[in-house]
Amino acid sequence: MNQTQKVESQNSNLEQPKETWREIWTRKGKVSGSREDLLSYNGYEATQIDMPEVVAQIVKALDIKPTDKVLEVGCGAGALAQYLNCDYVGMDYSPSLVKKHIEILGNSVIVGEANDIPFKDKSFDKVICYGVFLYFDSEEYAQQAISELKRVAKKALMIGELPIRSHRLEHKLYKKEDFSDWAITDGFYDPYRNDRFNVTIFFHDC
Ligand SMILES: C[S@@+](CC[C@H](N)C(=O)[O-])C[C@H]1O[C@@H](n2cnc3c(N)ncnc32)[C@H](O)[C@@H]1O
Repeated sequence: MNQTQKVESQNSNLEQPKETWREIWTRKGKVSGSREDLLSYNGYEATQIDMPEVVAQIVKALDIKPTDKVLEVGCGAGALAQYLNCDYVGMDYSPSLVKKHIEILGNSVIVGEANDIPFKDKSFDKVICYGVFLYFDSEEYAQQAISELKRVAKKALMIGELPIRSHRLEHKLYKKEDFSDWAITDGFYDPYRNDRFNVTIFFHDC
């Protein structure tokens, strides 16, 4: 490719409308695959995540018991959910990932938005929203989601992998200072342990 062709090709790339996160997550769920592909469906294919270890840390932090009613918001096809032993309900805005989750794991999963959760107040003992907030497009949306997640949780809520900084400009960033009334821990997996944090909150009537 000569120099003129390169510039033309770059320009035509620039003119293409950018794929939104919603479109990306919906596209990912349309690829055919099986249980072995759950990490890839949920976007972890290029990471060093040890998902059983991550889930063990979430279970420990929230003290999740087999009898607990747990909601996972932004569950995708179930990479995390496959290791949870509880009364589980999942929710995700990607219809194709929800379909895959049901096909592969047989869980109870619905399509829905993190800022508009279609469940009554305190419907779940514990609520998890892991690896999702980086895909939100505004602070207003994030605040609405926090308020919805708190509303449906009876005992405890964890929001995981909030980026302080990121290799991708499209990721929404967060500040630990904005979570002063939450328990804060470092990210759960490499190479993001120092670039991300998790926040957990317990409610008084537990
Ligand atoms: C990195 S994956 C994490 C999936 C799962 N929590 C896990 O750790 O295996 C992010 C998921 O969040 C979902 N998601 C992103 N923004 C969302 C939103 N605003 N409402 C609901 N789901 C959302 C995506 O569709 C995707 O399935």
